Amino acid sequence: MNTSLSARATLDRLWKPGCDFLGSEFAILGGAMSWVSERHLVSAISNAGGFGVIACGAMSPDRLEEEIVATQALTKKPFGVNLITMHPDLDRLVDVCLAHDVSHIVLAGGVPSSATIRRVRDGGARVIGFAPALALGKRLVKMGIEALVIEGSEAGGHVGPVSLTVLAQEILPHIRDVPVFVAGGLGRGDAIVSYLEQGASGAQLGTIFAASTESIAHENFKKAFLRANARDAVTTVQLDEMFPVIPVRGLANEGGRRFRQLQSEALQKFLDGELTKQEALLSIEHFWSGALRRAVIEGDVENGSVMAGQSVGMVKAVKPVAEIIQTLVSEAVTAIEQREARVHVPA
Ligand SMILES: Cc1cc2nc3c(=O)[nH]c(=O)nc-3n(C[C@H](O)[C@H](O)[C@H](O)COP(=O)(O)O)c2cc1C
Repeated sequence: MNTSLSARATLDRLWKPGCDFLGSEFAILGGAMSWVSERHLVSAISNAGGFGVIACGAMSPDRLEEEIVATQALTKKPFGVNLITMHPDLDRLVDVCLAHDVSHIVLAGGVPSSATIRRVRDGGARVIGFAPALALGKRLVKMGIEALVIEGSEAGGHVGPVSLTVLAQEILPHIRDVPVFVAGGLGRGDAIVSYLEQGASGAQLGTIFAASTESIAHENFKKAFLRANARDAVTTVQLDEMFPVIPVRGLANEGGRRFRQLQSEALQKFLDGELTKQEALLSIEHFWSGALRRAVIEGDVENGSVMAGQSVGMVKAVKPVAEIIQTLVSEAVTAIEQREARVHVPA
């Protein structure tokens, strides 16, 4: 076997549990991104051999149904739907997915209940959850979750405090019963291989797909990605622990600066007795509402929320999804070839 074929066989073996679980050629998930992960991007990822995931976000059950049906018209390959566990209509959203034979449901944005996990599995779909720490990962597996995503703080969007480098060491050696997919800061196939070798079954990427040709994100959004370096993708800052802010990673802009100012004003007004704690909290919580849409759809990248992971620094051109996936795979194969060449150095 030539070295490239043997390296490809090694890659196929390393991520086989992920490919088998997803039913895709490559164990590369397109992470759900609100407003971005809709029919066009999701079908493009699945058609290219990856696994696309619709971001339901705040969609109503009817709106989700429309998106699932439209995606199925564009691909015959499997894809998933990402549901936010605190959505008030969660059960109905699950039922919509099941009624349309969606094969995989990703439960995001908090710990899912056993009842929801059961509802998905009893309905015949596979269920994926997020593990921000080992203990929670083990608990989710006991509760019936069939695969986990571990997402490092390098990722775009809502993030936890721990990097993927550390999460992977904490979790991968200890969870072997279900496939674990790594996410956060991944922009090259060689990095994916390093996590597969540590025991991951595949990888989830978001940022790299947000700026693809098929992404419906506004031209300004994609241009902001092309201009940005890793250090420009920063997390929102919390000024006072009395007013908690869930960190969101995105490109630094005027919106982020105004958010810090708003927090400081709200805090001062609360201390001066001009606002109750609840009023101050609400003004902070409402600041970003609609902000992702403003950036992704309307193209206001100065005031909107330009969610992006640190991998944004590796996005150098707007490319078709199939090319992005093929590049990741060939980088992975080359990394394995080079590793094998190092291992077999003649004495
Ligand atoms: C613009 C944007 C929006 C996102 N929206 C969501 C979301 O709605 N739900 C979710 O679970 N993750 C969301 N994410 C996280 C991605 O699904 C994925 O896990 C993450 O992008 C992986 O890290 P990376 O950006 O470094 O590739 C979002 C990420 C981005 C960049």
